Amino acid sequence: MQELDRIVADAEVAFAACATAPDLEQAKARFLGKAGALTELLKGLGKLPPEEKPRAGAAINEAKTRVEVLLAGRREALLAAELESRLAAESIDVTLPGRRQSAGGLHPITRAQAHIERLFASMGFSVADGPEIENDFYNFTALRMFPNHPSRSMQDTFYIAGSDKVLRTHTSPVQIRHMQSHTPPIRVICPGRVYRVDHDATHSPMFHQIEGLWVDEGISLADLKGTITQFCRAFFEREDIEIRFRPSYFPFVEPGVEIDMVWERKGDEVKFLEIGGAGVVHPDVLRNGKIDPERHSGFAFGMGLDRLAMLKYGVNDLRLFFENDLKFLRQFR
Ligand code: FA5
Repeated sequence: MQELDRIVADAEVAFAACATAPDLEQAKARFLGKAGALTELLKGLGKLPPEEKPRAGAAINEAKTRVEVLLAGRREALLAAELESRLAAESIDVTLPGRRQSAGGLHPITRAQAHIERLFASMGFSVADGPEIENDFYNFTALRMFPNHPSRSMQDTFYIAGSDKVLRTHTSPVQIRHMQSHTPPIRVICPGRVYRVDHDATHSPMFHQIEGLWVDEGISLADLKGTITQFCRAFFEREDIEIRFRPSYFPFVEPGVEIDMVWERKGDEVKFLEIGGAGVVHPDVLRNGKIDPERHSGFAFGMGLDRLAMLKYGVNDLRLFFENDLKFLRQFR
């Protein structure tokens, strides 16, 4: 009995001397662990005469309970002390300024596209869409860019091996798809991503175009010029915008033009940037779109959306739009 009281007293002293939770767990092992003092006594019960066993067993268990109570008390005290010192160390300075949430912004190309869509909507155009992975037929053949036709080499693209699929090189295939599923009057724009094997300051392998198509009775090149001029004036917010229609060749229009805009003026030297191709839709293309060219005519254009954004925001290298440099992008917020 005396031995049990001594063990309990030893445990109390040992637990009180522990300054940390790991120390306490080690001290616990000395009394309650597998080879601990109380466990050893319990093991020794077997050697006692049977009539003494119940009393001795009960006394050891009672001592064990006392040690466990002491242990739990010390654990709690250590936890409370630890919490207190943490709270003291982590005191909050409520006078510090708060952290600002940084708000994201729309990418300049997305902003330019939304602006262009709004302007064309005000001229009665709706927005049409088409697949970026296109059939050879819609991307080329239906637009009279037949296999082996030299015009195909101007739009070198990414072919999907073993199929007739290509990453579309322009938004013009949407013209055919839209004409096949709608009847005139048609007045749509089709903005979207296109792909070519190109890479320099004004050419990117992935870029954006805005296709435009207006098909009705009596539509001519004059309507095209009026629409494009009107659009450019509104987009660049200037009445003196200078646009040049330069004769050009696209198999799917006749006549065809290249639309250039003044980019830089140094003294007498004027530098133009080509912003798109356009023309009067070829009768065979109307037929491929199930439209009767005897009754309807139309114009189409395909403008480089990224080029329009370059001109609008004064960016001199197209690649900046796609490098995701926050210092560049933040300027458009
Ligand atoms: C075409 O893609 C024709 N589909 C346009 C068209 C539509 C003509 C309807 C007639 C009728 P082009 O290859 O010229 O044409 O490209 C049109 C515009 O896309 C160019 O003027 C230029 O602004 C832009 N562009 C072309 N290649 C790139 C490129 N790699 N990176 C950025 N912009 C480009």
